[in-house]
Amino acid sequence: MEHIKLSQLISEDDIKERVIELGKTLTKEFQGKDLVCVCVLNGSFMFFADLIREIDCDFACDFLGLSSYSGSQSTGEVKVTLDLSQNIKGKHVVLVEDIIDTGTTMASLLQLLNTRSPESITTVSLLHKPEAQKNDFKPDHIGFTIKDEFVVGYGLDYNQYFRTLPYIAQVKNLN
Ligand code: IMP
Ligand code: MG
Repeated sequence: MEHIKLSQLISEDDIKERVIELGKTLTKEFQGKDLVCVCVLNGSFMFFADLIREIDCDFACDFLGLSSYSGSQSTGEVKVTLDLSQNIKGKHVVLVEDIIDTGTTMASLLQLLNTRSPESITTVSLLHKPEAQKNDFKPDHIGFTIKDEFVVGYGLDYNQYFRTLPYIAQVKNLN
């Protein structure tokens, strides 16, 4: 990894503060409702673990695994590699993502989950790169808006590395 240089973009303290705020917002929105919080694997596992502990109401947790694009081009579809373990019919669903880049993942995930007749689907993403988005998907809650640059840390990876960094860093490839 010696050809990689990281520069901090969002500090650990700023992430913590924003996660607490998002937790409060979701608590207000879903108090008393039949809620399932869904972790969109893999990148959002750390954000999910912190965020759900800031949501002060009763809810179920579930996990959804998605395959990445086949080849370098997006097919516009996501392939489910690990499906939800419960029926979401009639339930309020909060989808927790790490980052919205082209927006393809979230748009197709919404399409898929809507066929299962949930009461509502709310999308939360730690990061959003609006300049990289290729569709008109609008996330409901965003932690931070960033430029179109590759980032790692706090669950996000570069070839599976750097997920355990406590902050978000921009990757500079020195090759
Ligand atoms: P989208 O479908 O293009 O919005 O891509 C979303 C997925 O691509 C995210 O859930 C991440 O797993 C991955 N991704 C996009 N940008 C980055 C990045 O800057 N760092 C790490 N992973 C990323
Ligand atoms: Mg993701």
